[in-house]
Amino acid sequence: MCGIVAYIGEKEAYPILIKGLKRLEYRGYDSAGVALLNGELKVYKCKGKVADLENYIQKNAIQPDGKVGIGHTRWATHGEPNDKNAHPHYSENERLAIIHNGIIENYSPLKEELQKRGHKFRSDTDTEVLIHLIEDIQKNENVDTATAVRIALNQVIGAYAIVIINKDNINQLIAAKKGSPLVIGMGKGEYFVASDATPIVEYTRNVIYLEDEEIAVIERSGVQVKTIKNQVKTPYVQELELQLEMLEKGGYDHFMLKEIYEQPRSIKDSMRGRIDSNKGIVAVGGIKDYEKKLMEANRIIILGCGTSWHAGLVGEYLFEDLARIPVEVEYASEFRYRNPIINEGDVILAISQSGETADTLAAIELAKAKGATILGICNVVGSSIARATHAGSYTHAGPEIGVASTKAFTAQVTVLTLMALSIARMKQTLSESTFRQIMVELEALPEKVERVLKTNAKIKYIADLFKDATNFLYLGRGYCFPVALEGALKLKEISYIHAEGYPAAEMKHGPIALIDEEMPVVVIATKNSIYEKVLSNIQEVKARRGKIIAIVTEGDTLVSKTADYTIEIPDVHDCLTPILAAVPLQLLSYHIAVMRGCNVDQPRNLAKSVTVE
Ligand code: G6P
Repeated sequence: MCGIVAYIGEKEAYPILIKGLKRLEYRGYDSAGVALLNGELKVYKCKGKVADLENYIQKNAIQPDGKVGIGHTRWATHGEPNDKNAHPHYSENERLAIIHNGIIENYSPLKEELQKRGHKFRSDTDTEVLIHLIEDIQKNENVDTATAVRIALNQVIGAYAIVIINKDNINQLIAAKKGSPLVIGMGKGEYFVASDATPIVEYTRNVIYLEDEEIAVIERSGVQVKTIKNQVKTPYVQELELQLEMLEKGGYDHFMLKEIYEQPRSIKDSMRGRIDSNKGIVAVGGIKDYEKKLMEANRIIILGCGTSWHAGLVGEYLFEDLARIPVEVEYASEFRYRNPIINEGDVILAISQSGETADTLAAIELAKAKGATILGICNVVGSSIARATHAGSYTHAGPEIGVASTKAFTAQVTVLTLMALSIARMKQTLSESTFRQIMVELEALPEKVERVLKTNAKIKYIADLFKDATNFLYLGRGYCFPVALEGALKLKEISYIHAEGYPAAEMKHGPIALIDEEMPVVVIATKNSIYEKVLSNIQEVKARRGKIIAIVTEGDTLVSKTADYTIEIPDVHDCLTPILAAVPLQLLSYHIAVMRGCNVDQPRNLAKSVTVE
């Protein structure tokens, strides 16, 4: 969480910082601030979004000048979201200022020590402690700022991506990272630093991804990288593939809607070059060297958080059903703290859109330390998780900016399907005809998603009827149980309506007590082997006068006899239903949230990239 951006060059820094912060706002929007160097070192910051910072600057007739600057958009960890806790933070003598993404875990003893030495703190943040520590070291040991940063970082426990600006050196930014991501954009005589490449791409395509425990001293003449142990490093400059238009709304009211509508393309991109039904080939290139390991795996342990965890649950059905490999799906945050048993022959599969989720990353490191083979499915190219795994596949869904994940989910499930199918092929756990059928249907999915998107008007109509409900229940069975969880999560995240996903048959063990005529129940009731069972579950809801919104297979006549409203999706092989069934649930949440006046792209308290535990 938290987005950081910095600039040094010949242009005015403020507009670059503001634009960059807007791109990074998905990482948190509790407060925003900038520090600019123009003879003076000035910090401007306030509670709220980047737009609030702009208003504050305008209202107070501030001229935010300077060709060196740092900016921050915050997701609060230590200290409530208010003006004083907003970043940047000054050092004691106000000659240094810092922006930080991460958590300094041992800030409390460091703070006490500094207080004993006369330091006075203006905020409740861990970050301010770090910049005071740097100033203290610089003063006491009489070293330059970069050396003081290096010494300080050796005393710090926790995660950080930081950039420091120095009033006494107008030609320098100092950046460092551990755990949280940091990218340096290499322009001509100008440099950019950011949490990801999105604020950088319109200025330069050449970037360096800093590694953990590296410090970069960035001057107009070049970048020097050292480790915190003082070893000189030669950074690898890579070229960005990101396109600027991918970061714009492209005529849609919200990024979330744009991303929902992008799914025919993103699903196609996830399959590109990996499947050819004419030749009977499914191959996921990124994991080629580990296919045998996967094929022989005694168990696959899937790790993820949030929506990625839901994709993992679909993965469990896929790998077990198609490739006959036992799967366990774990919340990364639980896995890492319970001394998990990892046996030889287990393969870990970590799923993450951002590739930066702190719990997933830590779980990977733990499993790695236990000798496990780790594969990844990430969306963001070059992200920390993508780099921490032994091998992996990108989802190629393109940048996802709406905080609620949509196209990343369907792309993750697509890649999981391809993986399961390719292993099934090698293990010969599927008949030739089933294998061929699934392949053909996979290739037809983008067009079927288009058809689902055409039901938007009906979904909007249904949304209007239920927008004032206070609770929703989502039910699904088999492959669609995880979709029920995901549907409920989408509604919670963006409309703030309480929603629960349940396996349809489990309803009678608890949630049925909640059902009355006020309770909308969304049921995924597509035609499959347990269709009749789901029909019985629908009857049970109806008997309690619940309102039923059913996702059904095109042409279904049975469910509509009982359900209050139906939304049709094309017929598809059971294992591909999650991809199609997820789409109407995304649209339903979207419309309800918009009708309730919620900020769908930046829901309260959430962030897209959760880089704290
Ligand atoms: C946050 C986001 C979710 C996402 C989860 C895991 O909670 O708001 O949309 O599913 O993190 O993120 P990851 O990037 O690891 O998929």
